Amino acid sequence: MQSNLCKYHYILLRYTQQYMKHDISIIINLIKHNKTIGSSKYFISNNTALLSSINIYDNYKYKGYGNRLMYYAETFLMQNYNINRINTLAWQPSCSTDIVDFYTKNGFITNPNSIIQTYDDSVTQFDLFHMHKILGIDNSSETM
Ligand SMILES: CC(C)(COP(=O)(O)OP(=O)(O)OC[C@H]1O[C@@H](n2cnc3c(N)ncnc32)[C@H](O)[C@@H]1OP(=O)(O)O)[C@@H](O)C(=O)NCCC(=O)NCCS
Repeated sequence: MQSNLCKYHYILLRYTQQYMKHDISIIINLIKHNKTIGSSKYFISNNTALLSSINIYDNYKYKGYGNRLMYYAETFLMQNYNINRINTLAWQPSCSTDIVDFYTKNGFITNPNSIIQTYDDSVTQFDLFHMHKILGIDNSSETM
C-alpha cells in the first residue's frame, strides 16, 4: 500500500499485518528517487504505537532524513490509526548521548522515575532509556 501524505519527493510505504491477537505491525520506509533511505517499525495497540526500530542507512545519516521519517510516520499514524502516544526504548552506547539526543530533538522525553537499564552484547554496553512522545501537543511543557 502506498500513502501520499508526504511532500517533496518522498513516498511512505506501509505494510500492515496482523500481529498476535490485537496488535498490528507497520513498517514505514522513507524512499527518495526509488531508493530506500531508511526504515521504521511500529506496533499498534489501541491509540498507542510502540516504535521498535528506526534506521537511516549509513550513506544518508546526519542529513535530516531521520527527522523526516519520524515526522512523516507520526503524521501517518495520527491520521490513519488515531495514535496519540508513541513509546520507545532507546538503546544508547554507554558514555554516549547520541540516540537520546536524536529522540529528544524529535519531541520525546525520558519517562520519569524509570530505571535506566543496561545491556551488554559482549562488544558494547548499552544504556536503555524508556522514552515516549504525546502526539499533537508541545512536549517541551509535558511533565507526566
Ligand atoms: C538515529 C538515526 C535514526 C538518526 O537519523 P539521521 O538521519 O542520522 O538524523 P538526522 O540527520 O535527521 O538528525 C536529527 C537530529 O538528531 C541529531 N542527531 C542525529 N544523529 C546524532 C548523533 N549521532 N549524535 C548527536 N545528535 C544526532 C541531529 O543533530 C539532528 O538535530 P537537528 O535537527 O537539531 O539538526 C540514525 O543515526 C540511525 O539510523 N542510527 C542507527 C540506528 C539506531 O541507533 N536507531 C535507534 C535505535 S534506539
